[in-house]
Amino acid sequence: MSMRLTWDEYDTEESGSQPSVANGAANGVIADLAVRETVDAAVTPVEGEAAAIFAAPVAEPSPMQALPAAQPASVEPVPPSVPPPAQEPVPPEVAPATAAAPEAPGTHASVETPEVSLELDGELDGEPDGKQSRERVTVDQKAMINCRADLNQLVPFKYDWAWQKYLDGCANHWMPQEINMTADIMLWKSEDGLTPDERKIVKRSLGFFSTADSLVANNLALAIYRLITNPECRQYILRQAFEEAIHTHAYQYCIESLGMDEGEIFNMYREVDSVEAKAGWALEYTRALADPTFRTGTPENDRTLLKNLIAYYCVLEGIFFYCGFTQILSMGRRNKMTGTSEQFQYILRDESMHVNFGIDVINQIKLENPQLWDEEMQSLANRMILEGTELEIRYAQDTMPRGVLGMNANMMAEYLRFIANRRLAQIGLTEHFAGVRNPFPWMSEIMDLKKEKNFFETRVTEYQTGGALSWD
Ligand SMILES: [Fe+2]
Ligand SMILES: [Fe+2]
Repeated sequence: MSMRLTWDEYDTEESGSQPSVANGAANGVIADLAVRETVDAAVTPVEGEAAAIFAAPVAEPSPMQALPAAQPASVEPVPPSVPPPAQEPVPPEVAPATAAAPEAPGTHASVETPEVSLELDGELDGEPDGKQSRERVTVDQKAMINCRADLNQLVPFKYDWAWQKYLDGCANHWMPQEINMTADIMLWKSEDGLTPDERKIVKRSLGFFSTADSLVANNLALAIYRLITNPECRQYILRQAFEEAIHTHAYQYCIESLGMDEGEIFNMYREVDSVEAKAGWALEYTRALADPTFRTGTPENDRTLLKNLIAYYCVLEGIFFYCGFTQILSMGRRNKMTGTSEQFQYILRDESMHVNFGIDVINQIKLENPQLWDEEMQSLANRMILEGTELEIRYAQDTMPRGVLGMNANMMAEYLRFIANRRLAQIGLTEHFAGVRNPFPWMSEIMDLKKEKNFFETRVTEYQTGGALSWD
């Protein structure tokens, strides 16, 4: 029996979100391609200020700081053969997105129009300086990137789905201290409570996630936020950034509760190869945008932003989280580390929404800027997702050298290929791994926000107002 999901099932599995842009490639098409054993590196990152932003100074260069030099982030002139986005045909419902004129690196990219005078990063948009038009914002002026409308005015909405996700995120508010960690503390401190393999999984998971969520938050705040030029999407990004802070708080809360060596856990992304490889892969894409002189408005730079969104939403949050989540949630299903598992369950629900939001943003950018989604970009996106899948499979092999918790690395590899197929389809690419099925269907149930109780049947995990959990 086929275990592949239909579009509707995709939506059910990941918090009920409906991608804004349906794509024919999602309709059950499976590429008849062999599974790739290795994926060529295709990252073209930037060195410089980002390293200082995202990595604290250390006496010895970390593995991530030793990564290959990246492409310069300066704004390149538009090649003569590539017409500016404004000349591309766009759907009638899409606001015209006029590209900024090419400019010298380091200069400020501002756009002058008869109606408004705005800056691409929105820093001064809508300043009542008396020089701008008093004409009110219309939906047609709004666009996902390179927008010319006043970014300080939330309404009228163009992307209702983004506002709805913001509301859904607020309705699912939770805090780590509301989860009882007593049983975990007793189990962790007892000599024979967990096997060595189980203890390794707990430490690896907290080691990876405790810094990964900071990488995501930094990427949102320092790279993505100013380049997404839509206020309702920015509203959700602000909500997501706070949720990432809550997640980092949750991991810190677990680490502190269990009395772990904080240095060992938080520095794992520098010391453990399988963790460092994932963090380092994602950081390259942040570095490509973190240069404060970086601006969108050219095809090359718009694609750089698109690559960052794919790296973080489709791969880091969409693939890199799945082995660790599955391992810890499987532990909880076996009545071990139930507090930690419950923390992870809440986080997984948030992450599921983050992934859906990011995929909607990616697809909307594709819709509004079809010239960006050319064959080369599709090939690169495909390769990025396969690279991420391979790194996560290696992480599974590192954390599960033997069978544990009713699973093993081969089962996890199949699950990750199943997830990768979904990520490919969600952004309109052809599924890569033929015949894979989901060996952990219970993960889908956990991600379903409509579920009234969690798998421990101890407390209500669905709540409709922000503020506090409702306890049974
Ligand atoms: Fe997170
Ligand atoms: Fe997230």
